Amino acid sequence: MKKHKNVEFNIKNVGETVVLEGWVSKKRNLGGLVFIDLRDRSGIIQLVVRPEQKDYDLASSLKTESVIRVEGTIVERESKNPKLPTGEIEVIVEKLEVFSMAHDLPFEISDDTTALEDTRLKYRYLDLRRNSLKENLMTRSKLMHTIRNFFYEEGFVEVETPILCKSTPEGARDYLVPSRINNGNFYALPQSPQIFKQLLMIGGMEKYYQIAKCFRDEDLRADRQPEFTQVDLEMSFVEEDDVISTTERLLAKVFSEMKGIELKLPLRRLKYNDAIRDYGTDQPDLRFDMKIESLNDIFKDTEFTVFGNVLKSSGEIGCIVVKDNADKYSRKEIDKLTDFVKTYKATGLAWLKYSESEFAGSIRKVVSDQELKRLKEQLNISENDLVLIVADKYSVVKTSLGALRSKLGHELGLVSKDSYELSWIVDFPSFEYSEEEKRYVACHHPFTAPKDEDVDKLLTDKANCYSKAYDIVINGHEAGGGSIRIHQADVQKKMFEALGFTLEQAKEKFGFFLEAFDYGTPPHGGLALGLDRLTMLLVGTENIRDVIAFPKTASASCLMSECPNRVDQKQLDELGIKINKN
Ligand code: AMO
Repeated sequence: MKKHKNVEFNIKNVGETVVLEGWVSKKRNLGGLVFIDLRDRSGIIQLVVRPEQKDYDLASSLKTESVIRVEGTIVERESKNPKLPTGEIEVIVEKLEVFSMAHDLPFEISDDTTALEDTRLKYRYLDLRRNSLKENLMTRSKLMHTIRNFFYEEGFVEVETPILCKSTPEGARDYLVPSRINNGNFYALPQSPQIFKQLLMIGGMEKYYQIAKCFRDEDLRADRQPEFTQVDLEMSFVEEDDVISTTERLLAKVFSEMKGIELKLPLRRLKYNDAIRDYGTDQPDLRFDMKIESLNDIFKDTEFTVFGNVLKSSGEIGCIVVKDNADKYSRKEIDKLTDFVKTYKATGLAWLKYSESEFAGSIRKVVSDQELKRLKEQLNISENDLVLIVADKYSVVKTSLGALRSKLGHELGLVSKDSYELSWIVDFPSFEYSEEEKRYVACHHPFTAPKDEDVDKLLTDKANCYSKAYDIVINGHEAGGGSIRIHQADVQKKMFEALGFTLEQAKEKFGFFLEAFDYGTPPHGGLALGLDRLTMLLVGTENIRDVIAFPKTASASCLMSECPNRVDQKQLDELGIKINKN
């Protein structure tokens, strides 16, 4: 077995004989000597092969990324490299063995590689040799270790739940697995262990956790993978505050041990409706301000027909103020911002700039001086501010300005990479109206308990039912979410009814689950954190693939193993599956 790490050695070890193993990171011939940067997981150490050594020719012929073993003596370097932990020493090689000579590489292994991500994904095992990816995986491993320690200390039981399951209603499409033995029937891969963890509570486990693989066939984004990992927990005899404070203690330990940051507990809480009002999203990035302001009051008697008509039809006039940066936005730049908000269904973007005590901009001439004066006062406008306004349906104004706020926050460098803002979003509505399905669907999932005072409204006033659900948001990412669950069979049945399931449909889908409630169910609740997202936040990347050893592309395929792929006719026949050729 490999005995030493490269970085174990420093100037104190001069004179020692060592055996080292690793990859040839770099090789160069200088003044007749062969210099090799030997890389192992711990880092780099410099080797020197002198012409008089019997392995000199072998060393000269080495290709980068070959795997070697050397024996040699540690000496002090003449020209030291302060950037390397081993930069004061080098190893004079006395014996060289080549385990495996590498071919020419498809791309250079370096942190500032210019190789396309597709190439790196095809040769992911080479990509993993890069320092940044290696560091990310080590952070992920340490994070999992910290999490497991926390749960162990707090008396949680780690339980694995099945991967071949019956579909759970998490809202995304299921990945299905055909059954050979039960021909024509399918398993679903779990979108989360939701039903099982609740059954574990009914089974008397009281405190459960699992680092669980989840699978969702949904449109992928920079922070979404079809197969991802959750830190899943569930507790019995708890209320919202208990799950929230347990999660806060977990996050405090994670931030303290991983980043040396002491979180101030309790974390702040934002009501869902307030988050939408102020930031246009339930995942606000609170590292910068730039709240969405309502201008309804200022324009309530306006003669400007566009604004007037919006208010007449109960719409909203909202704006964000870009402080002290108006000069950065030319008319052309603002046109680009207009196109941007249009992708969020806004009809347009009105704007005003304040410079040399004067307003200028697209609506300067159509609004009154009085309105401008009030706007200046209410928004505290000062020199070089830019006001960006959307007038539309409430939801369109909030969504489009929320997205614009986030874009500008990043563009203007208002978010610093090393700062963290954590916040709970609470008091979610129980239902949201799906335009696509033309009905109310669950905002979280159908097992989420409604607020006690809203149980009676489940069937009659869905728009005003709120739930005992909570999300934890970190730097604009939903890092986790959960809820107190319904534990009374009658309320659960009512919820299914509210969601439009007939009793038969509910029984067919969750009959076993509903039945379990009849035999003694403790009040319970829990939450799941996205482990990949948490790792992304800790290492400071916006790309989820950077924290997963073997990720999928945006089209849910693996470029390295080339899956998904076609299978043999024999396999299909056994499963009773016929492929329709289009
Ligand atoms: P939810 O669906 O909110 O809740 O998922 C919990 C957390 O998992 C992460 N996540 C993802 N990460 C990467 N790729 C994805 N495709 C993806 N989808 C979700 C997010 C999210 O906050 N069973 C409930 C939890 C509960 O109620 O206890 C659930 O799965 O960080």
